[in-house]
Order: sequence, then structure tokens, then C-alpha cells
Amino acid sequence: MSLADVTYLPETLAHDPEIESINEEAFGPGRFARAAYKIREGGPHERDLSFVAMNGGTVIASVRMTRIEAGSGKAHLLGPLAVRPAFKNLGIGRKLVAMALEAAAKTGSACVVLVGDEPYYGPLGFKRIPRGQISMPRPVDLDRLLAHEIEPGSVAKLTGMVHHADQVGVGEPA
Ligand SMILES: CC(C)(COP(=O)(O)OP(=O)(O)OC[C@H]1O[C@@H](n2cnc3c(N)ncnc32)[C@H](O)[C@@H]1OP(=O)(O)O)[C@@H](O)C(=O)NCCC(=O)NCCS
Repeated sequence: MSLADVTYLPETLAHDPEIESINEEAFGPGRFARAAYKIREGGPHERDLSFVAMNGGTVIASVRMTRIEAGSGKAHLLGPLAVRPAFKNLGIGRKLVAMALEAAAKTGSACVVLVGDEPYYGPLGFKRIPRGQISMPRPVDLDRLLAHEIEPGSVAKLTGMVHHADQVGVGEPA
């Protein structure tokens, strides 16, 4: 296998079963209990900003993006990001993140948020969100809440409970 055999495509409905299988392999049944999963349950993800990596007609990696809001801030939530084990450490994960960020910037997204490892995402332009600024609908390691700011000042507008953008008002004070 060479990287020349890997192609990248915007996600379509036809990719769903393979993406589900990749995420099951990467995260197991525990994925349904994750904070980010709970947010993503609130509505659809953005297929235009979500991408797959393909090898010989098979999906080998996926990244998804979902519109979220918190306080007066709007953002996209990046994830899940997963790569089939046989294709890890080839730069495919990094490439998918870069594609998602570029697509988000092109559509006018203010910032991209995720729950993930700072050592991996830091070099891709993500920084820790100050502890206590936002909260998630399920327990999460606050040091893993990261943001990539596209529009200056946009991360500071994210405050309080994070929710899917379709869940207007959920988790906000009355
Ligand atoms: C994390 C994941 C998406 C990385 O994708 P990938 O295509 O294998 O990674 P890349 O080739 O882009 O980058 C590889 C580099 O990242 C490093 N890396 C991988 N996972 C890392 C992590 N969790 N923390 C820090 N560094 C990490 C590798 O050691 C490698 O470093 P090197 O370039 O110095 O050798 C992939 O390993 C995966 O699917 N893991 C299981 C699911 C998961 O944890 N997803 C992320 C949830 S936030």
C-alpha cells in the first residue's frame, strides 16, 4: 500500500455503514456514552464538511463535523476521527483534519472544537479551551477540550453548555 492509493472524498450517505464499522472498531460500544456522541445525537452532521479516505473502493478513515452552539458562540464539533488500524501513522488522520478545517473556513465557520489529545491536535492548530468556560452534557476531561479558532475572538464567545445547533436553547439559562 502506498499513499498514492489513498483518495479523499466528501462523505455521502453510501459511506454510512462503513463509517459506522470504522468507529465501532476505533471506539467500541463505549462511544455511545461519550460527551461528544451525546451532542451529535441532537441533530445531523454536516456531510459537506465531513470526509472519508478511500483505498480501492473501501472507506479506511473518516472525519465528521457537526454544528454546535454554546452561549453566544457558534462552532463546528470535529469528530469522530478514526483510521483503520492497518492505515495508521501514514498521515491520513492529519490530512482529514486539515480537509475538515479548510472546508469549515470556506463555509464561514467561526471555529472548530473537539474532545481529543492535545499532543496530536496541537500541531494541527488546536489549543485548550480555558477550563470552566464551556461544559459538556456528559463528564469529560477538561484538558481535552480543544479549539481551532478561525474568526478571531470566536472561541471566547463559546460559554456554558455545548449543544447541537439544532437544539436551540437547550442547556441555556431560562
Ligand atoms: C488518532 C488517529 C485518528 C490518528 O490517525 P493516523 O492517521 O494514524 O495519524 P497520523 O498519521 O495523521 O499521525 C500520526 C502521528 O500522530 C501520533 N499520534 C497518533 N495518535 C496520537 C495521540 N492520541 N496522541 C498523540 N499523538 C498521536 C503518532 O504517534 C504519529 O506521530 P509521528 O508522526 O511523530 O510518528 C488514529 O490513530 C485512530 O483512529 N485512533 C483511534 C480513534 C481515535 O483515538 N480517534 C481520535 C479521537 S480524538
